Amino acid sequence: MIDRLATSRAARRGDQAGQRPFSRRLRLVGSSALVATTLVVAGCGALRDDEGRPLTTLDPKGVQSNRIDDLVTPVFAVAGIVFVLVLGAVAIFAIKFRRKPGDVDGVDEPVQIHGIPRLEWAWTIAPAILLGALAVLNVQTIWKLEERDKDALTVEVYGQQWWWEYRYDVNDDGKPDVITANQMVIPAGRQINLVIRSNDVIHSFWIPSLNGKKDAVPGRTHVWSLEADKPGLYQGTCTEFCGLSHAYMRMEVKAVPAADYETWLEEQQKPAEVPTDDTPDDTTDNSLVFTGYTEFKNNCAQCHQVDGLGYDKELNDGTPDPDYGGANHPLTSGNAPNLTHLMSRNKFAGNLFDLYTKDGQVNTSNLGNWLRNPKNMKPMAPDENRGMPNLNLTSDQIEALVAYLSTLK
Ligand code: CUA
Repeated sequence: MIDRLATSRAARRGDQAGQRPFSRRLRLVGSSALVATTLVVAGCGALRDDEGRPLTTLDPKGVQSNRIDDLVTPVFAVAGIVFVLVLGAVAIFAIKFRRKPGDVDGVDEPVQIHGIPRLEWAWTIAPAILLGALAVLNVQTIWKLEERDKDALTVEVYGQQWWWEYRYDVNDDGKPDVITANQMVIPAGRQINLVIRSNDVIHSFWIPSLNGKKDAVPGRTHVWSLEADKPGLYQGTCTEFCGLSHAYMRMEVKAVPAADYETWLEEQQKPAEVPTDDTPDDTTDNSLVFTGYTEFKNNCAQCHQVDGLGYDKELNDGTPDPDYGGANHPLTSGNAPNLTHLMSRNKFAGNLFDLYTKDGQVNTSNLGNWLRNPKNMKPMAPDENRGMPNLNLTSDQIEALVAYLSTLK
């Protein structure tokens, strides 16, 4: 039987002998191409922070991420030791007991045995103890991540297709006083309690240098926390597949000193300036901004909120502007980012495109291209109420709108 098997195997080998070098070369080319593609894709696709480094959990910059790191280090060390021991043993045995030339089947094989209880107990108990110890460390870390400071600041986080909204209730009356998008501003050195929700599908909030991931699930509220040790920008991305532009749903946390945070909060609560078409000091021509403001009310205000836009500027006593919104116009439209202080942020459209050029000027080309045809810059399905539609604006309308948006500091 064995002889017959050996013969047929030899015969098969003989049949393939002619094609062998070719198929081996093909396999070699194929696997090198696969490796190269993987490296290129991994390199290009990696989301990077502002210093050009890929987003990573291995460079913790906050209290919670350091706690995770304190778990990761021993777990990796233990896993590394086990890896070396097991693979080392496999390599040694494979070399030492390999079939040597001239070995005769059934004669030169190692002695076949069935069971050594002492060894079997050892390799059952040792991993059990190891996993038990790791489980204790894991649970401890989970508990530590759930610790909440008494003076923690609460920020509500809403996942939307495909951007993030942040709501701050400054006077604790249950209603948000500041609503912003994409960039969450927080004071450094203070714990932030995130109350995470979703307005549509499941998303996942993740700022790797500050904490792990937490899902945003429709109909549920998840509490999560983070705290940045130092002022800085911390990049993140949605990590739960949420449709067409999931890969373009990014966010950043901007941690600032406590005093700067208070200033920011005050600025954000101010309504936007309502432009007028006359120029009191006669030095600047405000007509383009005013045209843009009118265009905004006609084309954008159905979805985008700009606080203060709904009120009559001349009366300036909170009297609602009859052609806009109404007295109780909410701070959020639910559909699109609140743009009241758009230009205080770094980026727009899911934190993808720069609002400013390198030399600090408003990036009018990014804003203009977005208004011209948003779908060219980011995949969206506006017909299904997901993402910004192409409003078929003329160049004049776009120029005016960009001029108005640039004033929303
Ligand atoms: Cu939101 Cu993926």
